[in-house]
Formats: sequence, C-alpha cells, structure tokens
Amino acid sequence: MKESKIEISYKVYEDINELPKEDAWLLNEAREVTKQAYAPYSNFYVGAAAKLVNGEIVVGTNQENASYPVGLCAERTLLASASALYPGIAIETMAVSYQSDNGNSNQPIAPCGMCRQYLQEYELRVGKPIKLILAGFEGKVYVVEKASYLLPLGFTSESMK
Ligand code: THU
Repeated sequence: MKESKIEISYKVYEDINELPKEDAWLLNEAREVTKQAYAPYSNFYVGAAAKLVNGEIVVGTNQENASYPVGLCAERTLLASASALYPGIAIETMAVSYQSDNGNSNQPIAPCGMCRQYLQEYELRVGKPIKLILAGFEGKVYVVEKASYLLPLGFTSESMK
C-alpha cells in the first residue's frame, strides 16, 4: 500500500485592486452581470464573465426554476452559451461573483461539483486550461490557474478507455 496525496494551489489577492488590469476588468463584468441573474428562489444572484481566446466576452447568470433541480448555475449557463456561439473556441479566463439578499458578498465562492465537471470537459475538449477568478463584491480574490485543479481524480472520457 502506498498513500498518495494531491495538492492544489491558488493565489489569494487581498482585493480587486491587486489584480492585473485585465483580470480586474473581467471580475467587474461578472459583478455587473449578477443583476441579470434569475434567482427568485434562492435570492442568490451569481454572475460569470469569460474572455475567449478570440477576444470575445461571454457572460452567464444563474437560471432558477420552480422545479428546483432544473435550475442552472451561472458557470454552466456561460459555458453552454460560449459553446453555442463560438464552438470549439477556448476560454482563457472566467470570473465569477455574486450578490445575495441574505447578506454580505465579501468572500469568494467556488463552482459547485456539477460545474467543476462541466468546466473540466470544456478544458479537455478545447485543449486549454480555464483560469478562474473568484470573488464577491468586496474582499479577497482567489485565482485558480486551471479549473480542473478543483476536480482532483475527476472522471473523464479517458476513464472509459
Ligand atoms: N450557483 C451558481 O450559479 N454558481 C455557483 O458557483 C454556486 C451556486 C447558483 C445556483 C443557485 O441558483 C443559487 O446559486 C444558489 O445555490
């Protein structure tokens, strides 16, 4: 028997002002788009904004439903839009932010498990890592250089070979 260990690393910035200009701009886009979220059930408004390698910007927001499991997270809404509008084009960076009726927006949120799986598929399909910028409306910003770092031992098409 041998014990294995997987470590992930991510950067922690004190706030948006420490980010490179382009990343700060994209995070502000994600914050802005939270206003367009459809979240009447959770009142938790998530916005995502991505820059593609062709320079295009694609956004996404969470899309809830009276039948709760039908709801979509902002990240998957964005990825499905990007794939429909610009099939096969890699995403360089995705920023995610949120607002909530119930409280503060001063710490980063990270994608849910289903979105991590979806992000991994996107990266593998186009052959390029997606850099994630995660933050609320204030406070610390996390930067993960590759979305699939958040899915250690993930299931992929390779697993079926
Ligand atoms: N949500 C997202 O859109 N992205 C995340 O990273 C976490 C959760 C949404 C799903 C649901 O509409 C609401 O936030 C509360 O879970």
